[in-house]
Amino acid sequence: MTFSNKKVTDSNTNEALSIQRSARQVAIQVMTSVLRQQGSLSTQLARHQQDVSSEHIPLLKELCFGVCRQYPLLNSIALHLLSHPFEEKDTDLYATLLLGLYQLGYMNTPDHAAVHETVEACRLLKKDWATKLMNAVLRRYQREADEIIEQLEAMPSVEYNHPKWLVKRFAKHWPEQFEQIIEAGNSHPPMCIRVNTSTVSRETYIENLTEKGIDATIGQASPSALYLRSAIKVTELPDFEKGFSSVQDESAQLAAHILAPQVGEKVLDACAAPGGKTGHLLEFAASHQNTEAILDLTAVELEPWRLEKIEANLERIGLMANLQCADASNLSAWWDGKAFDKILLDVPCSATGVIRRNPDIKISRKPADIDELSAIQKHIIEQVWQTLKPSGYLLYATCSLMPEENEQQIAAFLAAHDDAIEVPLNALNPDLKIEWGTAANHGRQLFPTLKGHDGFYYCLLKKK
Ligand SMILES: C[S@@+](CC[C@H](N)C(=O)[O-])C[C@H]1O[C@@H](n2cnc3c(N)ncnc32)[C@H](O)[C@@H]1O
Repeated sequence: MTFSNKKVTDSNTNEALSIQRSARQVAIQVMTSVLRQQGSLSTQLARHQQDVSSEHIPLLKELCFGVCRQYPLLNSIALHLLSHPFEEKDTDLYATLLLGLYQLGYMNTPDHAAVHETVEACRLLKKDWATKLMNAVLRRYQREADEIIEQLEAMPSVEYNHPKWLVKRFAKHWPEQFEQIIEAGNSHPPMCIRVNTSTVSRETYIENLTEKGIDATIGQASPSALYLRSAIKVTELPDFEKGFSSVQDESAQLAAHILAPQVGEKVLDACAAPGGKTGHLLEFAASHQNTEAILDLTAVELEPWRLEKIEANLERIGLMANLQCADASNLSAWWDGKAFDKILLDVPCSATGVIRRNPDIKISRKPADIDELSAIQKHIIEQVWQTLKPSGYLLYATCSLMPEENEQQIAAFLAAHDDAIEVPLNALNPDLKIEWGTAANHGRQLFPTLKGHDGFYYCLLKKK
């Protein structure tokens, strides 16, 4: 338990405190929405971060990501300290309390300042009635922190800092990898980039990074991956604006290397936003051919605002696709009837392999979501399969660790479709070394590793 390890540096000057106050007020708004299930942390941050000046955004993010990452522990402490939980209408006060506890436990804010600022935040919310309560609760926590944590540590959610239901499922499905999954889920993810090998080799790009004083190491699974020793702004990456590199986890990069799209083929990216893999499919094809022609790629995405992200990503790397805003499972809405040679199906999923990048999963994901998502995935694959040519390939992908969304989904699909067979993940790219992840009954499961790739699942199917 590292609760008392204060690690985020700030100072106690008046200026620093007023900066924190504005970042804290916005953090309260963001966390209130997340706790009310009004959208994901990344959506809420995107909506609210213009409310603080750019130099305060790192503090805003640290507060919100930090509270989500430590939520199972902070929530247990808060419930232990309060004689009655806050009512729904006072979720903003609950968010304020969690942020106060996070500052006391994990940030270098002096304790008296953390308590004072949290109490002041109640006034700014025009809930002066809560100031005494907030003060008493935080001061009690200051006095009794060690005993309280000792009492709570027996709870699995506190011991592992993940919701109890997820702890149970990880332990049941992946006993051998359990500790690794939990440790990665509580960690800060490394910054991994994808080198656009149609414009520059990975070897040259690492030299370009070194020249700028940026330390990087080569990813072992994806031939295009580099890990940066520490996170930097994307604008500091050499020729980022020209599309020479993109931020993308190493597991996610494997999709294009497995599907190995070639210019001349007709390819579908069925659930495409924000377009990380769309861009990589285009780059892959461009790096393996000698003509100016580009891949015939159709990218379908349900959400209009997310489709805009694909547009922006492709514009930066200077490549194009046929973008369709539609439900991929509603073929009449977007398909012209011409069958595809290859399909990437990166379905919506529980994202349980990428908790460290989306720590609000610890708050928002519920057990019932797994069945709901697996029903959606089943429907999408059933429909999209119809658009694949005979002898064509479909790569099914998720960033989930749940067998229901992965190998069990594929087992059920294979049982129901005589025209589908599973093929090895390097069937289309024999140069790709499959030394990553673990063979599942169908496909391959990657587990998140502390300094390496995220959790992911891939299975390659061929139409007979
Ligand atoms: C896992 S994300 C895809 C990530 C993307 N492939 C990438 O690498 O950047 C799943 C995406 O599918 C979209 N989606 C969900 N249901 C869909 C549907 N029925 N048809 C098309 N897109 C859908 C979601 O909005 C989300 O953007």
